[in-house]
Amino acid sequence: MAQHNLENVDTSEYPHINKGLDGIVAFSTTKSFIDGQKGELIYSGYNIDTLAENATFEEVCFLLWHDRLPNSSELEELKSDLIAQRELPSPVLEYIKTTNKDAEPMSVLRSAVSMLADFQAVKGKGSEEENLKHAVAMTAQMPTIIAAFDRARNGLEIVAPLNEGSTAFNFLYMLNGEKPGTAAEKTMDLCLILHAEHGMNASTFTARTICATESDMFSAVTGAIGALKGPLHGGANTAVMNTLLELQKQNGKADPVAFTKEKLARKEKIMGFGHRVYKTFDPRAFHLQKMSKQLSEETGQEKLYDWSEAMLKTMKNEKNIDPNVDFFSATVYYSIGIKPDLYTCIFTMSRVSGWSAHYIEQAANNRLIRPRALYIGEKNLDWVPLEDR
Ligand code: SDX
Repeated sequence: MAQHNLENVDTSEYPHINKGLDGIVAFSTTKSFIDGQKGELIYSGYNIDTLAENATFEEVCFLLWHDRLPNSSELEELKSDLIAQRELPSPVLEYIKTTNKDAEPMSVLRSAVSMLADFQAVKGKGSEEENLKHAVAMTAQMPTIIAAFDRARNGLEIVAPLNEGSTAFNFLYMLNGEKPGTAAEKTMDLCLILHAEHGMNASTFTARTICATESDMFSAVTGAIGALKGPLHGGANTAVMNTLLELQKQNGKADPVAFTKEKLARKEKIMGFGHRVYKTFDPRAFHLQKMSKQLSEETGQEKLYDWSEAMLKTMKNEKNIDPNVDFFSATVYYSIGIKPDLYTCIFTMSRVSGWSAHYIEQAANNRLIRPRALYIGEKNLDWVPLEDR
């Protein structure tokens, strides 16, 4: 494949050319603000630290969908709507039970979310009110899909969702078959809050691009799941845990500093580090680091936390690169007993709130998204007959 080095190409006609759309502003939004120099993150007016300390995931969903906090009756209504929609249509459940047990959980989640569209009364792009209903449906059903697949692939009976409790509580209940304690519920809830929304990341951009063709919200979220799955985006949290588990296999000989330096020397990426926008510590990572430290002590997994910290210091010293949201979320999920290949699914069941909020915002102020590509190939070649090639 040709390398696309544009140094000798005349790009004067294209003033906005920018690999990776770095720094390009494509939309205005009220959903979130990131100051990458200061390490500040705001969801619809509220600092992430304020939300982490005070909010629940359900309040964050309402905030992102309506740009304001709910009053108590609005919150109760949203919670009961979410509870009412947790069950999956039986063909979707059947698919989850019968698909390949070795399938990637993100792949199953993507296919199942796509199927959910077939069971909606409203087809196509929908009104704002209908789209809000679709947002609630997907937020309610994703945890059921993830937990059901994990149990089905392990030969366990699928646990039906509860008619009560928070999204976090019900997810852990369906996954483990027993009601979680307050600490585990709080940990999961905080993780959902921290992952809900993050500006024009690759998956949100995908969702908005699909919305802008006037396609439906299920298509937008299905596409976004595909984008989030990649290891340069949401898939990094699973990759971080696999790295730490590799170190653990070295039976007391693990050297995370040498491991990190050797990878850097080979010009390999260290998963969970770096960010297009943050040039300092990701503010979400502060909360996750604190949780990771505490949970690893409580569960006797201090080594995993110590190795993470050693990698963090090495990355800072060697490359001046800080961790992103995916680095410490890995050990947090591990400490509460979740399998590494489900981590990106958990990111998804939170981020669906942000994607759907952006979908509604895009639909209300739409224009087709259609950038240009700089053609660097040849032009008007003579046709060569098949036998002469
Ligand atoms: C998420 O956009 C969002 O908001 C995403 C997200 C969200 O909430 O939606 O925050 C969630 O996706 C977090 C990112 C998860 N991905 C990873 O952890 C994978 C590892 N990190 C990267 O590959 C990288 O940092 C990206 C993909 C996150 C950012 O890529 P950029 O902006 O295109 O940066 P780059 O690859 O051009 O790197 C710039 C420099 C390079 O060095 P030089 O060639 O200039 O010397 O930084 C180096 C890179 O090699 N670098 C790394 C590195 N990240 C950047 N070097 C080693 N390890 C890394 N992780």
